[in-house]
Amino acid sequence: MSELWPVPERVTNGAVTPINSLAAWREHWLRAANDPNGFWLDVARDLIVWQQEPQQGLVGDYTTVQDQPFAWFADGRLNITESCIDRHLAERPDDIAILWEGDEPTDTRAISFRELHRDVCKLANALTHHGIQKGDRVIIYMGMVAEAAIAMLACARVGAVHSVVFGGFSSEALRDRVRDCNAELVITQDEGLRGGRRIPLKETVDRALLGEAGVRRVIMYERTGAEVGMVEGRDISWADAVDGMAEQCTPVVCDAEDPLYILYTSGSTGKPKGLVHTCGGYITYTAYTHRTVFDLRPGDIYACVADVGWVTGHSYIVYGPLANGATTFMFESTPVYPDAGRYWDMVERHKINIFYTAPTAIRTLAAESDELVTRYDRSSLRVLGTVGEPINPEAWVWYREVVGEERCTIVDTWWQTETGGICISPIAPATPTKPGSATLPMPGIMPLLVDSDGHEQHGPTSGHLCIAHPWPGQARTVWGDHARYVATYFSTYPGRYFTGDGCRRDADGYYWITGRVDDVINVSGHRMGTAEFESAILVLDEVAECAVVGFPHPVKGQGVYAFVVMQPGAQPGEALEKRMQDALRQQIGAHARADRYQFIPGLPKTRSGKVMRRIMRKVVEGRSDELGDVSTLADPTVVDAIVAGFRGI
Ligand code: WTA
Repeated sequence: MSELWPVPERVTNGAVTPINSLAAWREHWLRAANDPNGFWLDVARDLIVWQQEPQQGLVGDYTTVQDQPFAWFADGRLNITESCIDRHLAERPDDIAILWEGDEPTDTRAISFRELHRDVCKLANALTHHGIQKGDRVIIYMGMVAEAAIAMLACARVGAVHSVVFGGFSSEALRDRVRDCNAELVITQDEGLRGGRRIPLKETVDRALLGEAGVRRVIMYERTGAEVGMVEGRDISWADAVDGMAEQCTPVVCDAEDPLYILYTSGSTGKPKGLVHTCGGYITYTAYTHRTVFDLRPGDIYACVADVGWVTGHSYIVYGPLANGATTFMFESTPVYPDAGRYWDMVERHKINIFYTAPTAIRTLAAESDELVTRYDRSSLRVLGTVGEPINPEAWVWYREVVGEERCTIVDTWWQTETGGICISPIAPATPTKPGSATLPMPGIMPLLVDSDGHEQHGPTSGHLCIAHPWPGQARTVWGDHARYVATYFSTYPGRYFTGDGCRRDADGYYWITGRVDDVINVSGHRMGTAEFESAILVLDEVAECAVVGFPHPVKGQGVYAFVVMQPGAQPGEALEKRMQDALRQQIGAHARADRYQFIPGLPKTRSGKVMRRIMRKVVEGRSDELGDVSTLADPTVVDAIVAGFRGI
């Protein structure tokens, strides 16, 4: 399945991005490669509103990053909400900025730029009123209500640094994040609504903040009106907080390199890292990639159905689209509520032109009857995007043929929390596609593939995906731990950014991401570290040791398989499995479940004590015949026990 799928005429006709052909892509890519500073300064000045236009491009590089973060546009000054709101307010105040659909399909809302400006200013004034100043950290723990976007923008308006925590995370995980960034204020809602279920967000905040004196204020948006406890002197409802606040708020001018937000993400080791994105570079890169990849046109209804708790929601629901003045759609529910036709029902009702989702959702829906798609009018659609995990060619073809009826092009966008925005992807009108390939790098992105010794591999090959040169949207550091940032991304292959992904490049120069090569598991596009799973399970007294690996899963992309070594005398079985699930829910969140547990007598370890995950991974992938030489293990018989006890997946 490596044939080229041409871009349909509906996508090429009337393209507005200057990158409207493969030749144009090459020209732009070469220009950015030969003169990154000139290229990005032009983009930044062209797309973004500055209080002081930058004259400087990049300062620093992947070598000097050891000592200090590199910087883009360091002499530029701006407040990103002027790009996202004020300039559109001036030009077309009544255009829809946010089109929102709630859990129930009948529950919809359209927020104009005028209304967005008012609501953001009022909340921004409330934040100031409650003592929030430039640089202070604010945690946002909400579901997919429009107020989540308003809260992010209100923080940006006053120069505060937000950290959105996905509403599925547990109170423990939330507390870790509150502590790590020393947040002073939390914005939440009484309850979330998803698929007809209520999610007790405020209650979780209360548990997370027990004994956390650092958080002085909790602002709670009333979504369902449920009875919830309010802590005297700390908690205030959103309505009360904004009551009487002025409808204008002068934006606080920031340096381009001031932090815009922190977003926690999982890696191979230890606790999640708070990646820091900065104002000027991030807004430039998200605005540029959003308009270019999707070929955003005036009047388009653009829908990304991710959650603002993940980076996709930050870059491609809120910041990129609003900087471009697009109508951005926000969706509170799930793709299967009330049934698996929900997405296409929304496409018909809202006349959505660009639709962006994750492969796991596509696989889930493709498994249902096509009639749930075809019963709705999808003629408004032009560009269909995917993100978050590799997409298998079958799901890709279904997306293009059944959903897109051959009229739409597919943009399989590869990027990461760390990259801030899309790095490898088709550009809708320009790039012929191949099912399963993220195709070609964006201008300014210089990918390279290296072998395990760090030697660059040329031509058609596979290897570890690295990037050779910084771009404006790249995360600058890990909050409070720059050494960890350097160690994680720049020490494996010095002088290069190491993505953690494996990748193949074909004879046409197209990139095919094959998945993580480290201990990160990607379940339904949710990125989780094996170490986080293991330390949650190890909380139980009965568990002596445990190792978690991913396995290929037909719908979720990857599933989670836990090998557990018990303490002497402990009883294996369902009761213990349930307690391990509970521990995962408590320590991480409901989205962190293990699909299978296997009790084993010991972990396969080398004589020096290193756990051989490779062996366990092969077993769960059904490749027990490829284990190779295990004689160097401290106790080779544990491998026999693992293989014998494996019951398939
Ligand atoms: C994976 C999500 C294949 C990859 C934006 C990456 C993908 C990780 C794709 C980042 C894609 C993301 N094809 N794999 N189109 N997009 N990935 O930080 O393994 O939640 O390293 O960012 O998702 O996940 P994150």
